[in-house]
Amino acid sequence: MPKEEEGKKREEEAEQSAAHLHAYTHKHPPSKPHPTKAYGHVVKAFGNLLQVRFEGLLRQGEVAFVHLKEGADLKAEVIEILGNEAKIQVFEETRGVSLGLPVTFSGRLLEAELGPGLLTSIYDGLQNPLEQLAVKTGFFLPRGLYVNALDQDKKWNYEVKCSVGDKVKRGDTLGTVLEGRFTHRIMVPFSAYGKYTLTAVVPSGVYTVETVIAKAVDEKGVEHAFTMKQRWPIKSSLFQGERVKPEKLLETGLRIIDTQFPIMKGGTFCSPGPFGAGKTVLQHHLSKYSSVDIVVLVACGERAGEVVEVLREFPHLIDPYTNETLSTRTVIICNTSSMPVAARESSIYMGVTIAEYYRQMGLDVLLLADSTSRWAQALREISGRLEEIPGEEAFPAYLASRIASFYERSGVVLLPDGRKGSVTIGGAVSPAGGNFEEPVTQATLSVVGAFLGLSRERSDSRRYPAIDPLISWTKYLSEAARELESREEGWGGMVALALKTLQEGDAIRKRMEVVGEEGTVIDDVVTFLKAELYDFVYLQQNAFDAEDAYCPLNKQLELFALIKQVLEKKFHFQTHDEARTFFLQLQNEMKNLNYMNLKSEGFNQAKEKIEQLIEEGRAVALT
Ligand SMILES: Nc1ncnc2c1ncn2[C@@H]1O[C@H](COP(=O)(O)OP(=O)(O)O)[C@@H](O)[C@H]1O
Ligand SMILES: [Mg+2]
Repeated sequence: MPKEEEGKKREEEAEQSAAHLHAYTHKHPPSKPHPTKAYGHVVKAFGNLLQVRFEGLLRQGEVAFVHLKEGADLKAEVIEILGNEAKIQVFEETRGVSLGLPVTFSGRLLEAELGPGLLTSIYDGLQNPLEQLAVKTGFFLPRGLYVNALDQDKKWNYEVKCSVGDKVKRGDTLGTVLEGRFTHRIMVPFSAYGKYTLTAVVPSGVYTVETVIAKAVDEKGVEHAFTMKQRWPIKSSLFQGERVKPEKLLETGLRIIDTQFPIMKGGTFCSPGPFGAGKTVLQHHLSKYSSVDIVVLVACGERAGEVVEVLREFPHLIDPYTNETLSTRTVIICNTSSMPVAARESSIYMGVTIAEYYRQMGLDVLLLADSTSRWAQALREISGRLEEIPGEEAFPAYLASRIASFYERSGVVLLPDGRKGSVTIGGAVSPAGGNFEEPVTQATLSVVGAFLGLSRERSDSRRYPAIDPLISWTKYLSEAARELESREEGWGGMVALALKTLQEGDAIRKRMEVVGEEGTVIDDVVTFLKAELYDFVYLQQNAFDAEDAYCPLNKQLELFALIKQVLEKKFHFQTHDEARTFFLQLQNEMKNLNYMNLKSEGFNQAKEKIEQLIEEGRAVALT
């Protein structure tokens, strides 16, 4: 079938399957064979891994298309080149692939399409927009159909910020577009190396992402045209500017994180935990409440249903910082375990590339991946097919370096215009059986800045969020304390005391289990009760209560100051019972504060009552 007809057929298919996708669908078939690009044919097939004999120049990571007899073109990526044969990995189901099938190479790496319109989008790992399909029609893309990531027809209000004659380089601002409430900078493409002189510039106006908004000549006098969209290869980090140290706290509204195990904007953290311990609930919480501009949520789902939940729930959630719907600041990359492994592998890179793109605009971005274990499994499967020498638990030997280079894409960047942007990366890890000794967890732990370990023990006793304070750690304590000391004197020391109390309380609890409470000296019982109070009242939080789910930092400062009074006070009780009764009462009173708004009148009254209780140091008769 001639190429034109194929393209037409594809268009018809697209229109039939999803008329509302109209605006997105390809106007042209994907890459045609090109004299300077390599081409070849399939000589061996093994699952999604094909061996292709080719002619021409070929690069590692290049995108290829396998042309099926029925007219569909399957997207693939070059993963190994040896002489005139290459191994390519197909991103889709390979039914119908046979020896001798023609393969063309695009001459391009796997890329993300970047420009206004990314926010609110839901993509798969190859950046096909899924939202319209999944939510409205409940089905997935037919095989071999690739859809433009950005709406080609949508008009944007473009404000020009450059003039003819300007000397520019990659990353420089040509103009801006208002994307929701964000100023989206239209930049000189990152593929443009060297210096350029602008020769033509459109006036401010209403344009699509495809419109040429500026023309420029390079140092050799060759002319280039710039549009509002650009493409970044997804597998390596890209930024323009200088890396600087993280210095601002990422507020999450979760007390156990912000207070006890803080994370900095531009930092990294991981949250490993056994199945059902609350990793996904935690990631969703962070995507809703974290104090960042933009959230990129990569769902390499454990269950397909989970992903659908995200799609259903997200558009309706309200951002506590702006009172707008959360989707206006979110990009979701969705892969379920039913999607091909290779697409799962690319989803994480797709997500982090989009995050880096928004960082380049001076924004704070949070990238969340749930779970990176699924991604590592994809690496393992691919490596297995390549018959590479396996490392621990059959993961490839390069697992640790892949994990490290993913997290290394986080960070604060001082942009050339003096502003700062950040990418914070948080990955859930789901080790089989909750065993943290396995390779993915271990490799992750050696690169991240904070470890929020979820434990079965805590989730079983419904101590949510099930982040276990006895195993978790953060390297950002001193940075966070530096920021918070200015608001609450002695913050850092207090956090250390709280953790010490928890550890001592745990040791005493274990001893009491053996010798009984009667055999334990009263001071120890009190330490144990203090630890329990801190855990119950402060560290635990009810994700399903509107007031308690999100505890803003100023409320944390108030509550922690109360906790401080309890932890620092030396109580004198006569009997164990007296101590228990007192702490039970105090605990209940303090827990109530969590459900009260900081600004309500009740809050201050309740707080005064608690302060009096602590002061008196004994249980009072309930009135
Ligand atoms: N913070 C929380 N508050 C209340 N319930 C929670 C919380 N976190 C998890 N859960 C409960 O645990 C269940 C499993 O959580 P989920 O995040 O799906 O686990 P995982 O992703 O670790 O497998 C949830 O459906 C919910 O009932
Ligand atoms: Mg989960």
